[in-house]
Amino acid sequence: MVGRSTDGTEGLASGTTSATDGSPGPAPTRTRRARIAMAPASNPAPAPPKPSPAPQVYLNGRFLPRAEATVDVEDRGTLFGDGVYEVLRVYFGKPLALAAHIERLHRSLGGIRLTPPAEAERLGAITTELLERNALREAKVYWQITRGTGPREHAFPAQPRPTLLMTASPLNPIDPASAPTQIKAITAPDERWHNCWIKSLMLLPNLLARQRAAEAGAGEAIFHRDGVVTEGTTSSAYIVREGAVWTHPADRWILGGITRLVLLEEARKAGIAVEERAFGLEDLRSADEVIVSNTTSHGQAVTHIDGQPVGNAQAGPVARRLHGLLMKRIVAECGG
Ligand SMILES: Cc1ncc(COP(=O)(O)O)c(C=O)c1O
Repeated sequence: MVGRSTDGTEGLASGTTSATDGSPGPAPTRTRRARIAMAPASNPAPAPPKPSPAPQVYLNGRFLPRAEATVDVEDRGTLFGDGVYEVLRVYFGKPLALAAHIERLHRSLGGIRLTPPAEAERLGAITTELLERNALREAKVYWQITRGTGPREHAFPAQPRPTLLMTASPLNPIDPASAPTQIKAITAPDERWHNCWIKSLMLLPNLLARQRAAEAGAGEAIFHRDGVVTEGTTSSAYIVREGAVWTHPADRWILGGITRLVLLEEARKAGIAVEERAFGLEDLRSADEVIVSNTTSHGQAVTHIDGQPVGNAQAGPVARRLHGLLMKRIVAECGG
């Protein structure tokens, strides 16, 4: 779990009250882990690994040094946010849930009526080569496809030539024996559009709410739409009531998180009751546990909401169990 995310956008960055899983901090040794577990709540998260001084990126069919990679000033991604993206986590040299990320990317592309470039059929292979070229085994990989370059007009170009960008940046290895990180959250009105299932580049409502969280000393803002809790600015949200996990259905009002998919699958296999159902702010505030999850931060226990403690303000039993299940799944799927 990420106390200080390496990208500052997808990870749950500030307001982290402990960092016990070693991600992206260095994998703790036995003594170090014990020390971290007892660390005061305000302990800063371990520093993320330094990016390579000459990272390679992939842009429109070519691998090249990041400093030489340029996108046209009239790329519609820049002008309009007219594009979609994915963030993957690579463990032990292998992306977790690669097929699910590819599937979601194609769903998002369909949602914005953008035909993918032919090279999008080789996303897995390009990702592997990008990791090799950057000598990365623990990484965050970013894919972005925009509608390409064209004069600044709202209607689509007649024959769009999409821009495909891929970057990889280093993260520290996980500690499979870790406990979930704990973060504070605030609540915020969900001011996004009606197609939150599309992983769109248009993230301003998320950025504004996340900035409010940061200013309040919290690591995440949990959205509610007319009192119904949807998700976090960069995370899926869950509550635990009497041992059962509730999370908003994967409909148009949330992004279908890949971590959510994996966590729910593992929870069901382990016999934990899961209900994909809408719940309100009052349910959130009175929950036994609140959890948020995403690709780079895994599942995190929320200790406070709007300054009020959740349960006993510690990672609860279900958060710990889910985190353990996720760590096991990562090791099983990506190898250890
Ligand atoms: C709005 C939103 N919801 C949920 C998630 C979690 O998705 P995933 O688990 O695929 O990272 C993210 C991830 O960035 C997100 O931005």
